[in-house]
Amino acid sequence: MITPNVTLKNKTVLVTGAAGFIGANLVKELIKTVSPIHIVGIDNMNDYYDVSIKEYRLEEIENLVAKTQGVKWDFVKGSIADKPLIDEVFEKFCPAVVVNLAAQAGVRYSITNPDVYIESNLIGFYNILEACRHNEVEHLVYASSSSVYGTNKKIPYSTDDKVDNPVSLYAATKKSNELMAHAYSKLYNIPSTGLRFFTVYGPAGRPDMAYFGFTNKLIKGETIEIFNYGNCKRDFTYVDDIVEGVKRVMCAAPEKKMGEDGLPIPPYKVYNIGNSNPENLLDFVNILSEELVSAGVLPSDFDFDAHKKLVPMQAGDVPVTFADTSALEEDFGFKPNTSLRQGLRNFARWYKEFYLSK
Ligand SMILES: NC(=O)c1ccc[n+]([C@@H]2O[C@H](COP(=O)([O-])OP(=O)(O)OC[C@H]3O[C@@H](n4cnc5c(N)ncnc54)[C@H](O)[C@@H]3O)[C@@H](O)[C@H]2O)c1
Repeated sequence: MITPNVTLKNKTVLVTGAAGFIGANLVKELIKTVSPIHIVGIDNMNDYYDVSIKEYRLEEIENLVAKTQGVKWDFVKGSIADKPLIDEVFEKFCPAVVVNLAAQAGVRYSITNPDVYIESNLIGFYNILEACRHNEVEHLVYASSSSVYGTNKKIPYSTDDKVDNPVSLYAATKKSNELMAHAYSKLYNIPSTGLRFFTVYGPAGRPDMAYFGFTNKLIKGETIEIFNYGNCKRDFTYVDDIVEGVKRVMCAAPEKKMGEDGLPIPPYKVYNIGNSNPENLLDFVNILSEELVSAGVLPSDFDFDAHKKLVPMQAGDVPVTFADTSALEEDFGFKPNTSLRQGLRNFARWYKEFYLSK
């Protein structure tokens, strides 16, 4: 086990992508568990998906801040690709810990809209690295992705595997983030940790992801398409497990050490955070259907078979994702453990409340 060397208490933490799915959940967890703390969130509130969900997440944060002692919350609406803005944010708030979750996510969208991936994921991340270089931080934690494994044949996916064959621009930007962070860690001794998240899901999640998109289609009576004829496996990871992992990692910055050459050994690490229990897509759809019925999102006599179609694999997709999380377990004594049924149940209940109870 690693001994934590960063305390979040009495510190300023910058979370980019704070109105995003994982970002907002991380901010809420920090508000609930650390006091006093100053949290600064930044997000450009782009309309890649329904902005009202981002607004809802920010509202939830505001409500929590209002009833919690010892928490200061500042939200900056803007882009991490805006260098003067990022420099200003770092100068003004001097964050001790930075968690970069802002990015253009989504594999398929990167095929039709590559520009925004370069802007947010490469230029934006570069701006964060530069700001960390000029304003000393205790730890930079950033989101990478399981997509860096491409069509890795060996499972489970380990951070020791070679990941030089991305099959989407999104994956290439995430792998680039790891490489850029490595260079900055080496050159400027910036402690950095990259986290490869595996298919994150949960309440108020991302509408572009299968479980949410399927639900949106089914309630309209539309047909859902199940890729690769259902022969796909995904390591679905519940958002609370991701947040717990991120929080533990934030408190353990890779140690700064000097090499024999008198130069810093890069204080740099990368971990997988996944459930380590891949589920077949068809089983996942069955569980989702059952939970949507039981939450009252869909009627009990809903004919699922009439609303699903098995289709071929899509460009950029991979047949399986499966995280080897042994390093996370060894270093942090933590392993995601929320079952898919429980996680989808929480999602279905939230969906009912958010969309159907007004
Ligand atoms: N959800 C997953 O399954 C998953 C899996 C692997 C990696 N990730 C990564 O985790 C991070 C968070 O993902 P998420 O699922 O919460 O996605 P999300 O899209 O809900 O959150 C990202 C947030 O960043 C904001 N954003 C995008 N570009 C920005 C920019 N240039 N400047 C400021 N804000 C910007 C968006 O408005 C959004 O609110 C991302 O880096 C994503 O690539 C997510």
